[in-house]
Amino acid sequence: MTTRDVSQPLSHNPNLLKWVEKMADLTKPAAIHWVDGSQEEYDTLCAQMVASGTFIKLNEKHWPGCYYARSDASDVARVEDRTFICSLSKEAAGPTNNWVPPFEMRKKLKSLFAGAMHGRTMYVLPFSMGPIGSPMAQIGVELTDSPYVVANMRIMARIGLPVYVEIDKGEKRVVPCLHSVGAPLAPGHKDVAWPCNKEKYIVHFPETREIWSYGSGYGGNALLGKKCFALRIASNIARDEGWMAEHMLILGLEDPHGEKTYVAAAFPSACGKTNLAMLIPPAHFKRKGWRVWTVGDDIAWIKPDANGRLRAINPEAGFFGVAPGTSQKTNPNAMAALSKNTIFTNVALTPDGGVWWEGLTGEPAECLDWQGKRWTPEIALQTGAKAAHPNARFTAPASQCPTIDPAWEDPEGVPISAFIFGGRRATTMPLVYQAFNWSSGVYTGATMGSEMTAAAAGTIGKVRRDPMAMLPFCGYHMGDYFRHWISMQKKLSETPRIFHVNWFRKDADGKFLWPGFGENMRVLKWIVDRARGRALSCETPIGWMPHYEDIDWADLDFPRAQFEQLQAFDRAAWRAEVIGHEELFLDLHDHLPKEMVYERELLICRMG
Ligand code: OXD
Ligand code: MN
Repeated sequence: MTTRDVSQPLSHNPNLLKWVEKMADLTKPAAIHWVDGSQEEYDTLCAQMVASGTFIKLNEKHWPGCYYARSDASDVARVEDRTFICSLSKEAAGPTNNWVPPFEMRKKLKSLFAGAMHGRTMYVLPFSMGPIGSPMAQIGVELTDSPYVVANMRIMARIGLPVYVEIDKGEKRVVPCLHSVGAPLAPGHKDVAWPCNKEKYIVHFPETREIWSYGSGYGGNALLGKKCFALRIASNIARDEGWMAEHMLILGLEDPHGEKTYVAAAFPSACGKTNLAMLIPPAHFKRKGWRVWTVGDDIAWIKPDANGRLRAINPEAGFFGVAPGTSQKTNPNAMAALSKNTIFTNVALTPDGGVWWEGLTGEPAECLDWQGKRWTPEIALQTGAKAAHPNARFTAPASQCPTIDPAWEDPEGVPISAFIFGGRRATTMPLVYQAFNWSSGVYTGATMGSEMTAAAAGTIGKVRRDPMAMLPFCGYHMGDYFRHWISMQKKLSETPRIFHVNWFRKDADGKFLWPGFGENMRVLKWIVDRARGRALSCETPIGWMPHYEDIDWADLDFPRAQFEQLQAFDRAAWRAEVIGHEELFLDLHDHLPKEMVYERELLICRMG
């Protein structure tokens, strides 16, 4: 048990103290707990959650320091239709965001939050996105009635005492984040393991930099440092201050001479971002001395330094990764990262107190599924029931990843030499190409798309346009966001090269043309060489492409004809593609920078 009096404020900042008091007046918690972020406090909270049924402690021998949680069946994912950008005008939020007039929304939120924490403890959770003290870090305080949120945030962000010190310096603006699961507890009533509310509101006020989240305990809706702050609010701060908040992994590629090239890559959800961030190169590359380092797997904050070079930090401290499909084969580094001190949510629980999910080896003869029901492989065969929810998650400390970059917490960030955009596309998009220049690269990112569902063999899934993978995360008008991207280049003395990749192109029989995973290193090497001006390429209507000879094929018997199929520019498919671009642009037309219109025209002209 922690010995300190947790109700005693740990900050002297008068604004913070006043706000906590005001929010407590509104939400009426039974107690206030000032989070110090210590191990002792974490252990106590976890023990309390074990006692209340929210957590199950996993088998300490096989899963040291790990806990298991099952969410309510209705609270398993981000709720995009309940996510609002309440800027002063609808136009500022743009057509791709849900908008409600801020006055109206505040009224609604006040009524929802009134008494919402009744019978619960309000945790005052200070957090830093980015290494504490980094000039690129931002600070927030989340008031939450969920101990599950506190435990997860301790892994995903830097929290506690050192953050109060930053707050008390008064140098940085603090983003206020209010969160309630929306399940007030009447006296004498027993709590449920996963309290939440059918009604959900994930609300952002961009001008006042505030976040209000109601009704959900799920990570993306409740760990407010992540999508809500580090992307939706931070994209607003970044636009105003001249930097970029992006839905991107960051990785470092070290060549045999020890020279490191950092790239940042944007992919929509379910395209293997975490796997790419932790890629293991093929044996031949390893033998030659190539190494891949992980800086981040989801979010990048990128800023020009004094020399006009873009530098990036990972604002997070952990991985909130999708468990199903993660295995020793697909991502041994993620498996090492999650082997201890990890929180698992909505995976399956094995009889020996371990966890399992689809895609992991060692399928159990029986287990309890993510809803606590008995599951066996036979039941799965008969009913199609999944043991783990497809969006089941692990929350693991980034420091436990064997390939974590030695510079991952560098307060100045790492220098970015290339941006990579990509999606899941069965047709049309080649394995890799390089955009001609910055504005054609921004066009490439702005028009990127991904198939929404796993298409049946040979069929084509519907392509959802997801500009820079930011569609659900851009906290302002998408057209203005493209303009911001265009304008960023003007601040730079060195412009990163921009690339597009597609690991998912299929042949006429619906078979993947590219093996993916570690073999993606061959593509990354070409990207590094291009970014450093030392690889050849061939001009095509959409950009620069490698010849077969420009890729290092050592140890891989990859036929030239298959490579040519992968890289093929299909004029008819691209005609349809450009029409798809126009559909998105029509919605954004009154805010679209003219570069996007010209790039589209040039592309059409080049297609001939
Ligand atoms: C995520 C997402 O959880 O993009 O990272 O949805
Ligand atoms: Mn993401």
